[in-house]
Amino acid sequence: MEYQEESSGKILDGKALSDKILAEIETEVKQIKKAGGKVPHLAAILVGSDGASETYVAHKVKACQKIGFKSTLIRFETDVTEERLLESIDEVNENYDIDGLIVQLPLPAHISVNKVTQAIEPEKDVDGFHPVNIGRMNKNLSSYIAATPHGILKLLQHYEVPTFGKHCVVVGRSNIVGSPMSILMARDANPGNCTVTICHKYTQNLAHYTLQADIIIVAVGIPNLIKADMVKEGAVIIDVGITRVADASKKSGFALKGDVDFDAVSKKASFITPVPGGVGAMTIASLMQNTLLASKGEIYKN
Ligand code: GUN
Repeated sequence: MEYQEESSGKILDGKALSDKILAEIETEVKQIKKAGGKVPHLAAILVGSDGASETYVAHKVKACQKIGFKSTLIRFETDVTEERLLESIDEVNENYDIDGLIVQLPLPAHISVNKVTQAIEPEKDVDGFHPVNIGRMNKNLSSYIAATPHGILKLLQHYEVPTFGKHCVVVGRSNIVGSPMSILMARDANPGNCTVTICHKYTQNLAHYTLQADIIIVAVGIPNLIKADMVKEGAVIIDVGITRVADASKKSGFALKGDVDFDAVSKKASFITPVPGGVGAMTIASLMQNTLLASKGEIYKN
């Protein structure tokens, strides 16, 4: 019995921490309003009507409303030209009332993600995708840090998960999660100071690497990719996957599945994030933190 308790993973509750962070921001916004200060304002651009993107953007707008931020949602049809989208970004860049801008990804194939992310004013790039912010992050200078990796750092910090000198295996090398996450876990900070291995779709024998990991961060969108026999006893498991899988028992018709076989892996893990209620919830809180920072205009302090 005792052994079972020790080996059963402690839940890293992203929903609870996110609610706490959002409540703190809400209190601060009330004080800002009382003092006649600048009310944080986030703009989101959504192209097309992909179900998951619609849901994510709706959550972001709802969070703004809940904590007293202003929000502007700009929508385009899937066939919007790249030129028109870039024009819209310019308009937001020049709008003094808007502090932060995100363009929800993925974008249709005819639009260059690189052009779009580079068109956003770095000071308004609360997603932290602009090369200026990625470069500054890399050099450990103050910058916007992409919401999902930032949320993961907050979770590790809050639950005092040791990272110093640990081996962190990041599965996935996306610009949104895997790539920035690997930099953040390796840099000289806390959380950080890990030895980092990056695995991706061409990695041969993934289990060879994950079995050596003290910390596994997986962000690939393949439900149940990480099985119990791929994980070392006592490992920390961060599951960024959030795939919609058909489920007739749910009102929505789908269930959200992570990249980790939670039931089996949680028995071996020391800490583990659930899906939903783990990393996803933290992403929203981090975006709001970045937007608050943007409204204060003091992002590049050092
Ligand atoms: N698509 C998936 N995650 C994100 C995110 O954090 N920001 C944006 N803009 N698009 C996303």
